[in-house]
Amino acid sequence: MYKISLITGDGIGPEISDSAVSVLNTINEKYDLKFEITKLLAGDKTLEVTGKALPDETINIIKDSDTCLKAPVGESAADVIVVLRRMLDLYANIRPAKSYPHMPALRDDIDMVIVRENTEDLYRGQEFRVGDSAVALRVISKAASKRIAKYAFETAMQRDSMRKVTCVHKSNVMRVTDGLFAQSCTDVSKDYPDITFEQMYVDACAMNLIRQPEQFDVIVTTNLFGDILSDESSQVVGGLGMAPAANIGDNFALFEPVHGAAFDIAGQDIANPSSFLLSIKMMFDWLGAKHNDSKCIKVGVKLESTIFDLVKSGVKTKDIGGDVSTTEFTKQITDNL
Ligand code: NAI
Repeated sequence: MYKISLITGDGIGPEISDSAVSVLNTINEKYDLKFEITKLLAGDKTLEVTGKALPDETINIIKDSDTCLKAPVGESAADVIVVLRRMLDLYANIRPAKSYPHMPALRDDIDMVIVRENTEDLYRGQEFRVGDSAVALRVISKAASKRIAKYAFETAMQRDSMRKVTCVHKSNVMRVTDGLFAQSCTDVSKDYPDITFEQMYVDACAMNLIRQPEQFDVIVTTNLFGDILSDESSQVVGGLGMAPAANIGDNFALFEPVHGAAFDIAGQDIANPSSFLLSIKMMFDWLGAKHNDSKCIKVGVKLESTIFDLVKSGVKTKDIGGDVSTTEFTKQITDNL
C-alpha cells in the first residue's frame, strides 16, 4: 500500500485532480496496486481561507506519505512548490519532451529531457529593495551544480538515445554564477567518457529548441532557465496539456504537471488531464525503482500507452485539436486501462 498525498490546487487543479483520482482508483481495482490517497489543501484558495498558502498540516501529511502528487496552484506558487522543493530537497526537476504520433509536434523524432536544478538560482526568492532599486541574489553553488550534473549524466546513461548532455547557461554574461555552473558540469563530465558533452548559451538553446529540437538528448541547466526552456520544449512536442514533471530528491519525490493553474479555462471541463496522468506515470517509475516493485513500472507503461493510444484514435481535448471534455477523456482512459 502506497500513501499518496495529493494537493488539488487552484484553477484547473481540482478538475485534473479528479481525473487523477479516477485513474488511480481504476488501477487499484484492475491491477491490484493499492494506494491510500489523502487530498490536501494548498494554494490561493487555501491562503484566502487559512491565511497560509502551505499549511503546516499539509506539510506534515506530505512528509508522512510515500510520494506527493501536486496539481497546479495559482499566484501563490512560489509559496507552495518552490518552498516544498527546497524543504524536501527535491533537487532535480525532470521534464521530458517527446513527440508521439498524432500529436501536434514540430517533428516526429524529438526525444529530450530537461534536468533542471531545483533548489537555487534566482528562485531562492532573496530579493529586496534598496531605495528606488530592486535587487535579487542569484545563488549558485558548486555542490548543487555538481549534484544536478551527476543526475543529468546518470539520466543520459539510462536512456536509450544518443547519450548526450547539453549544459545550458549564460556564462559569457553571468561569468561568476554561470561560470561556476558550467565549470562544475564540465568537471562531472570527465567521469562519463561515454557521454558526449556540449555547452550552449541559453539564448541559442531557446532558438535551437525550435530550429533543431531533435539534436537534444539531456539538457542540464539552472532553475530559471530550466523553467522557461521546459515550457518551450513542451510546446515543441504538442503543448503544456501533455507535459509532465518530476521533482526528485534522494529520499522523496513530488510529481506535477509543467503548467500552471490555467485560470482562463478553469471550470469548463476542457482541461487536458494528460499532463497530470503522465506525471503519475513518472511517479510509478520512481516508486517502482525505489521499492523494487515491477508491478508499478508495468502499470506506468500501461497508463502511458493508454493515453497515447487514445490520442492516436482521435480522442483529444481541445488544446491538442480535439473536442472531448476532461470528464469524457478520463472515462475513456479508465475504460481502456
Ligand atoms: P498556465 O500554464 O496556467 O497556462 C498557459 C496556457 O496553457 C493557458 O492558455 C492555459 O489555458 C493552457 N494550459 C495549461 N495547462 C493546460 C491543460 N492541462 N489543458 C489545456 N490547456 C492548458 O500559465 P499562466 O497562465 O501563466 O499561469 C496561471 C497561474 O498558474 C498563475 O497564477 C501562475 O502563478 C500559476 N503557475 C503555477 C505553477 C505551479 O503550480 N507549479 C507553475 C506555473 C504557473
